[in-house]
Amino acid sequence: MVGDGSILITGGAGYIGSHTVLVLLENGYDIIVLDNLVNAWKDDSVQIPEVLQRVERLSGKKITFYQVDLVDKDGLSEVFKQHKIDCVIHFAALKAVGESCQEPLKYYSNNVSGSITLFKVMKEQNVKNLVYSSSSTVYGSPEYLPLCEKHPTGRTCTNPYGKSKYFVEEILRDLVTSDKGWNVISLRYFNPVGAHPSGDIGEDPTGTPNNLMPYVAQVAIGRRKELLVFGNDYDTPDGTGVRDYIHIMDLAEGHVVALQNLLKPSSTDRFNVFNLGTGRGYSVLEVINAFSEVSGRKINYRFVARREGDIAVSYCSPNLAKDSLGWTAKRGLKDMCEDMWRWQTKNPNGFNKDQQPSE
Ligand code: NAD
Ligand code: WQD
Repeated sequence: MVGDGSILITGGAGYIGSHTVLVLLENGYDIIVLDNLVNAWKDDSVQIPEVLQRVERLSGKKITFYQVDLVDKDGLSEVFKQHKIDCVIHFAALKAVGESCQEPLKYYSNNVSGSITLFKVMKEQNVKNLVYSSSSTVYGSPEYLPLCEKHPTGRTCTNPYGKSKYFVEEILRDLVTSDKGWNVISLRYFNPVGAHPSGDIGEDPTGTPNNLMPYVAQVAIGRRKELLVFGNDYDTPDGTGVRDYIHIMDLAEGHVVALQNLLKPSSTDRFNVFNLGTGRGYSVLEVINAFSEVSGRKINYRFVARREGDIAVSYCSPNLAKDSLGWTAKRGLKDMCEDMWRWQTKNPNGFNKDQQPSE
């Protein structure tokens, strides 16, 4: 086990954060969650968001929760003063690509300024171990495939969300260069999908889902009429876009091994980047077919024009994470669809049962 301190999880009430919190608790870590709940639901009559109540039930452990915004420096400092923290896993961010194009300042302020505030507080409190949530989006349009960690980043990032992820990686790079005390791992996620196998926690998008898998699940359950497939004229085997979908539980487990690597006494490399993906791409039509088979439902879809800013194909080389961390994704597309479907059928309206389905 690590030191005698806790792991602070920013954005731990979100999709990836909540699954990671569960796996960390199962692995014996003490967890503190910080989230401003901008994208997570809490009943006013209780102390912690619904998702974390469910994580507590699944793990049989208690979670310390703070409703604090990353940009609130005093609030953040207070959390660090209340606890001995060994490491921060930094998930908190806004992530809607389309919205980031409409409101770039909101994204830079939240994702970039918020991260800087967090890093300042960490430095002041002498907590310099960090796992950062990065994204395949930092690669922009692939110059070659599979995407490995040496592929150029930033050059062809087209939207403020993607750029905010890239900028923070660069800030971290400069930080560790300036101060040898920092020890940072940046994890570049490919396309996280699915849910915990219990079906009790999963992705709960507000409004119309931006991403493929939650949209497909909502069509399957009858909450939406049809899926719009963005383009069938790509240079791919069936003409639709290809992505490297990764099961959320594989992704969560990736954080545990990253943390173990970061906190081992011999750890000397101060800034490391790893892709977390399967290394295998699936097309939109392959996802639709797999989901239809698992759910036994017909998925209505219609081809429409390409979505602006989309790329044809993205998949990673997961070899560095395998060789350096000993991590590989174990679950396949069928598991992703099965677990997603269980979550969707058990929670047709997400965490807030009273919520009216939105168009
Ligand atoms: P999510 O929206 O479900 O979770 C993010 C959480 O952060 C939410 O609970 C939200 O309330 C919280 N948050 C946002 N801004 C905050 C702030 N200023 N202060 C405190 N809390 C704040 O998103 P997710 O899918 O779980 O993504 C987690 C991280 O992974 C993000 O950094 C995202 O950029 C990155 N990522 C996500 C994907 C994906 O497809 N989901 C892919 C690559 C990278
Ligand atoms: C997958 C495929 C679409 C919706 C986005 C972000 C990226 C990252 C992950 C955080 C594509 C097609 C989708 C729909 C469709 N997030 N599609 N109809 O675009 O790879 O990545 O999420 O870092 O930054 O850009 O994922 O799930 O949106 O799309 O046909 O209604 O499904 O065109 O080929 P994407 P996605």
